[in-house]
Amino acid sequence: MNLETSLSAQASVRRGVAGLLDPTSRRFGSRLTRAINIAFIAVGLLGVILASDTGVVPGQSLLVAVPLAAFVVEYLVRLWVIPDMWIGRGESASRVRWTWVTSGRGLVDLMGAILMPAAWAAGVPTAEAEMFGVLWVFKLARYSQGLAVLWRVIRLEAEPLVGVLFAFLVVLLCAAVLAHLLEGAAQPAAFGTVPEALWWTIVTLTTTGYGDATPVTLPGRMLAGLVMMCGIIVFALWAGILATGFSQEMRRRAFLKTWDLVARVPLFQNVGVTVIADVAQRLRVREVGAGSVVVRRGEVGDCMYFIVNGDVEVQATPATSFHLKDGDFFGELALITGAPRSATVVATTASQLLMLDIADFRDLAARYPDLTAAIHREAERRMSRGPDKD
Ligand code: CMP
Repeated sequence: MNLETSLSAQASVRRGVAGLLDPTSRRFGSRLTRAINIAFIAVGLLGVILASDTGVVPGQSLLVAVPLAAFVVEYLVRLWVIPDMWIGRGESASRVRWTWVTSGRGLVDLMGAILMPAAWAAGVPTAEAEMFGVLWVFKLARYSQGLAVLWRVIRLEAEPLVGVLFAFLVVLLCAAVLAHLLEGAAQPAAFGTVPEALWWTIVTLTTTGYGDATPVTLPGRMLAGLVMMCGIIVFALWAGILATGFSQEMRRRAFLKTWDLVARVPLFQNVGVTVIADVAQRLRVREVGAGSVVVRRGEVGDCMYFIVNGDVEVQATPATSFHLKDGDFFGELALITGAPRSATVVATTASQLLMLDIADFRDLAARYPDLTAAIHREAERRMSRGPDKD
């Protein structure tokens, strides 16, 4: 084998491994790799939890050592294949590797792989060194869409969040000084200095209320009431900002995904951008597995479907069935005629569908009659002649 052939074989192996490590891929190999990785993380974390109580499980140290060995290998493999995972950046492989090593995820993987052995080597007792394994929990972030969304929301909403944090600090400081002035003489142990009063203020402002220090004077109690109310307002504001940001971000993501899919349906290909945007906002992505019944004959129909990819079988009668494929639609007859579903529709392969509910269908028909005219024409054809058999 000459050098060129061996290099290209190496590159194709590297690409294959990169595919296995792709956290978004839905291929079997990638899903299996993810499941194994998550299992190692779970076992490792269990080992770490048990590390402080070594008598519980015999062989506890194996629960930590085996995942650790796997994470060291995983780190080296990721380092090797990362140029294939971050495609299209036009950077050299070593530059990509360096960017990954210094990224948040790269650092989490690195720390998870080296801190524990380093602590062992430095003579830290085993049970304490194993506590570094708690860092493995951050490896799960790679597989959590929700965490990625939360992180983005925090960055996008940083300004209002910091604004509320500022209000929190103002209340905290003013209340601590006031509490010291009002309660200091009566309870010098808990309120004798501002730092001591700060502890009571933070416990009250966060509405935790340990009860280890409580105001005894009337003005002190009035202040406590005020601090509690401010605490509730501050946390309600934070919760509100995060919840709104979260739902907006989820809607944005859903919209982008739907937009991409809508553009693949022939019916929407020649309409303007504004119409696509309007349609994309109303469609919901639905993924169905092979064998799923999407529509059942005789049921009330409240939505129709466009097939982005896949294949469905329309079982019009026990003896007649038709296949519909990418770009086709079904479920429109019930919306147009108001009659129950005329046929059962079953997905014959895993399919990606776009669902349009009846209210949006009527609204679109009123706004863009040309768009829905094609659906009406096909519906009439289906009702009068039946479809072309394939
Ligand atoms: P609906 O009656 O709402 O639910 C079943 C769907 O199957 C129907 O709408 C049509 O979209 C589709 N369908 C029914 N009969 C036929 C047919 N003869 N050819 C193609 N599709 C059909």
